[in-house]
Amino acid sequence: MTVLEVIQRSAEFLGKRGVESPRLQVELLLAHVLKLPRMGLYLNFERVLTPVELDEVRELVRRRGQREPLQHIVGSTSFCGLELAVNKSVLVPRPETEQLAELGWEFLNARASAVAGAREPVAALDFGTGSGCLAITLAVKVPAAQIVAVDISENALAVARENAARHQVGDRIRFVSGDGFAAVPAGMSFDLIVANPPYIPAAEIETLEPEVRDYDPRPALNGGAQGLDFYERLAREAGAVLRLGGRIMVEFGDGQAEAVRGMFERQNWVVEQVKPDYSGRLRFLAARLVK
Ligand SMILES: C[S@@+](CC[C@H](N)C(=O)[O-])C[C@H]1O[C@@H](n2cnc3c(N)ncnc32)[C@H](O)[C@@H]1O
Repeated sequence: MTVLEVIQRSAEFLGKRGVESPRLQVELLLAHVLKLPRMGLYLNFERVLTPVELDEVRELVRRRGQREPLQHIVGSTSFCGLELAVNKSVLVPRPETEQLAELGWEFLNARASAVAGAREPVAALDFGTGSGCLAITLAVKVPAAQIVAVDISENALAVARENAARHQVGDRIRFVSGDGFAAVPAGMSFDLIVANPPYIPAAEIETLEPEVRDYDPRPALNGGAQGLDFYERLAREAGAVLRLGGRIMVEFGDGQAEAVRGMFERQNWVVEQVKPDYSGRLRFLAARLVK
């Protein structure tokens, strides 16, 4: 069978299984098997696959047809241009979270310039680090920064550590396991706290697409009855570890902006920005504390 035939037949199969953008998905799987850039497939449409290649592609397409995420099948994803390993222990980083990373590194770099020469380096806390995507991006983009990355899942932290090592920032990120701020090492304070906490209302999890419902870890999704439990905790507890002039920046779900803003304002935070993602939905909040 040729490359083009595999693409056409597999795309039809995945389409029938309800997979979104089936042709793109097949092309990415096939490029992975043939170790080609995706565009390289277009120059090789008439190439005949070997039996081994064909078996491998069939198996991956079968898994994708069972709605296993593409990123789990190929074992990695790209985040802010960094290749990160992912598996069933971590939430697959979403493209919109790259915007939170960018807000974070812009603030932290400005802060690093402002406090250059100070006794302590700039520091950031990544609350619920998962794959480590936010912590690692901040460390890469802000070479002066020291980062603490907290997660309740030891398995997630193992993936995050591996990703940090891959990008040579493991020496500037301290990974700690535990429940929220209780895990933050005593005496530490931060210029920036970033969090993309679990925010799906518990009862909605069963209604999500199979890729999310069956493969992202439940503790990475479940935000309590309204999906807002973690924002309440962040608004109440983050102030204790924030340095003067510091910021908290959080991602939240579509439709949660007003509730999240209210929680922060009731705890004396000054909300500076509530920002949309690239599809125009409000998804990010940045705030400072009135002390
Ligand atoms: C939505 S995921 C975000 C992961 C990553 N920061 C990202 O943006 O892709 C939330 C993460 O919070 C972690 N988490 C859940 N409850 C927690 C808690 N009580 N304390 C610390 N981390 C927690 C989960 O294990 C998960 O890795």
